[in-house]
Amino acid sequence: MQEGPAPEGKPQPSADAYRAPVGTHDVLPPESGRWAALVAKFAARATRFGYGLVMTPAYEHIEVFQRVGEGTDVVRKEMYEFEDKGGRRLALRPEGTAPVVRAYIQHRPTPPWKVWYLSPHFRHEKAQRGRYRQHHQLGVEAIGVDDPALDVEVISLAQGFFTSVGLTRFRLAINSLGDGQCRPGYLEALRSYLRAHADELCEDSRSRLEANPLRVLDCKVPACVAVTERAPQLLEHLCADCKTHFEAVQAGLDAIGVTHEIEPRLVRGLDYYTRTTFEFASEALESAQNALGGGGRYDRLAEEMGGPPSPGIGFGIGIERVLIACDAEGVLSTPKPYLDAYVVDAVGPEAGAEVAALLAELRETGLFADRAYGGRSVKAQTKSADRAGARYVVLIGRAEMEKGAVAVRDMESGEQVEVPRSRVVGWLHDHIDPTHRDARR
Ligand code: HAM
Repeated sequence: MQEGPAPEGKPQPSADAYRAPVGTHDVLPPESGRWAALVAKFAARATRFGYGLVMTPAYEHIEVFQRVGEGTDVVRKEMYEFEDKGGRRLALRPEGTAPVVRAYIQHRPTPPWKVWYLSPHFRHEKAQRGRYRQHHQLGVEAIGVDDPALDVEVISLAQGFFTSVGLTRFRLAINSLGDGQCRPGYLEALRSYLRAHADELCEDSRSRLEANPLRVLDCKVPACVAVTERAPQLLEHLCADCKTHFEAVQAGLDAIGVTHEIEPRLVRGLDYYTRTTFEFASEALESAQNALGGGGRYDRLAEEMGGPPSPGIGFGIGIERVLIACDAEGVLSTPKPYLDAYVVDAVGPEAGAEVAALLAELRETGLFADRAYGGRSVKAQTKSADRAGARYVVLIGRAEMEKGAVAVRDMESGEQVEVPRSRVVGWLHDHIDPTHRDARR
């Protein structure tokens, strides 16, 4: 950037001002084609399972997120909070569940309310590969029913999505976090065990021990893992209702062949969870960033947010993580550019109307078609056609125009044929194989 006095005495922007902020990223074509493919697969699958798209604002009143966890890093340390010009305290969405529950309470749809979303999420984390300050989640929430069969549906929706993308090296861990009946007793047992081993725990875990002992189970520091491996397990403290629910979930997953492992120390990073929790971890990624997605039940959240008692379950899947896992497994490659036809103008300005009309006809009848702009040479236009992955080039030449025809070149074989202008659109439709197109896109 050129140094010099700033215009009108304004301070010069720093060299970084016109770069995407740390922890965020632009998604450009052709890479964005993978995003589109991933979202399309998810949308189709969620729709098939009876889920409708929900969209909520990128920011909410800060209270919406307070129930997500005053004891969690996501809310305590990482939230993008701000005050708007009207003095309202707001926060950019750090996660997707609380806004959807807020919308459920506000609009009172008929339960079960089954919705899916694609949304950006904002967490002021230490940015690194697989961990961003703006990341994107594909998720579902199903609110209003506590039937374990719904847990099975939600988990299998996610599991089959990963498989449909081509991933094979991932594991599903499930656990139950109990409920208001059984968890308090367990927390007391856990607290007293951890107190007895406090001097073996890391500083972070020691500070969490009293207020949020479950989070200690999640600590990856080896000394803490050694202590928590021997800690009392919640699964042994479940009340009869939670135990029955958890057994039904396991049996349901078994019945439809969803492989899973019970992970008694899976606690998740948000406070609202009750009963079933689950996480999908990629074996192809480093363990610190290997969670592809996770979720669980949040049967008390609606009530805690001032709504009617409304049990719920859902999950969030990190799109960036899934794409990194796809790279590691060599699946879902970036789609190559493809067009059915590319119109090349060998005449110049006097053919402008003819080029525009032909292109419009191709596109409006459902073909994937493009052209060059700016009066470039035939050679340059043909090169662009090749770069755009054109299957056929439709050349408008002077000699052909005088005959009321166009030249069509097969870009794979190099063969060229003359086709009457009035028949070329039909000719292309006859020669394009849509399955070939779908496979290329
Ligand atoms: P979460 O586990 O915090 O859950 O996030 C879900 C997924 O988002 C993670 O498994 C991970 O793939 C991805 N993710 C999270 N943070 C980042 C980050 N900083 N950078 C990149 N990817 C990230 C939730 O947010 C819950 N709302 C899920 C849920 C829905 N539970 C019930 N319903």
